[in-house]
Amino acid sequence: VRADEAWAEEVRRLADERDAVLLAHNYQLPEIQEIADHTGDSLALSRIAAASDASTIVFCGVHFMAETAKILAPDKTVLIPDARAGCSLADSITGEQLREWKAQHPGAVVVSYVNTTAEVKAETDICCTSSNAVDVVASIPSDTEVLFCPDQFLGAHVRRETGRQNLHVWAGECHVHAGINGPELAERAQADPEADLFIHPECGCATSALYLAGEGTVAPGRVKILSTGDMLKAAKQTKAGSVLVATETGMLHQLRKAAPEIDFRAVNDRATCRYMKLITPAALLRALREGVDEVHVDPETARLARASVQRMIEIGK
Ligand code: 13P
Ligand code: SF4
Repeated sequence: VRADEAWAEEVRRLADERDAVLLAHNYQLPEIQEIADHTGDSLALSRIAAASDASTIVFCGVHFMAETAKILAPDKTVLIPDARAGCSLADSITGEQLREWKAQHPGAVVVSYVNTTAEVKAETDICCTSSNAVDVVASIPSDTEVLFCPDQFLGAHVRRETGRQNLHVWAGECHVHAGINGPELAERAQADPEADLFIHPECGCATSALYLAGEGTVAPGRVKILSTGDMLKAAKQTKAGSVLVATETGMLHQLRKAAPEIDFRAVNDRATCRYMKLITPAALLRALREGVDEVHVDPETARLARASVQRMIEIGK
């Protein structure tokens, strides 16, 4: 299936027929981003899903994102074009493992990244995203222990920003972001000393970037640790002529659209998420034709998970 004019027309026709809204994450293939009604980061898309009038949500992203949409909009039909689109980070902690960790730290508050399964969210006190993790942890009384999962690099970022010693971090990681490493970033930054660095906090290189700023290799104001949504805002504000981007390469499409005059370059151009890329033009067509793959969350799990997502939304951002 080619993403040509005929394909686009058929997708639009079927979406109308199903009363479906098409959502695409910033890491999707450019042709999927272009056909979608909305693009954005994981949380922004879930909020759009919940507020939409459409009876069906087609979530072009990975499974935990579609699950979050279902948790927030339980009465809508939520489809993901390929249910095999998982996430190595979400898979790095199970509900059972979290229950065991909690038993070792009675009284601790559990903060989980949205990149988790519904079962893990149901065991969580407050969810967070990469854009509000620091605010969420800062909202918890300073003498209360915090269990932060599952991403170790985002956890290290939060610990650095809050200076909190009673924050315990789970040793999970995203294979794509962990692979964007410090030496690679240093080499790129040295070759382009005028460039801004936009770095997702899940990256293995986030600590090295701040170290480069500390030793003066990169001007401190040029290092920006940002979620995908915040990268787009920063792209519209920066005065830099070029930006080195450390995240999944699908992000470059939206960045180039937001600021065509800036030269955006990937720190690691092999940083592609194979799960995100399972959502092909053919898979989207199949989803709309056949009404598959439908996402279900057990109602009691969804009720508990919704409380942790809503607590995050109340904290702001
Ligand atoms: P965002 O929350 O920034 O959309 O990131 C989701 C993700 O999967 C990061 O790898
Ligand atoms: Fe998960 Fe990493 Fe893919 Fe994001 S890029 S969906 S965290 S595996």
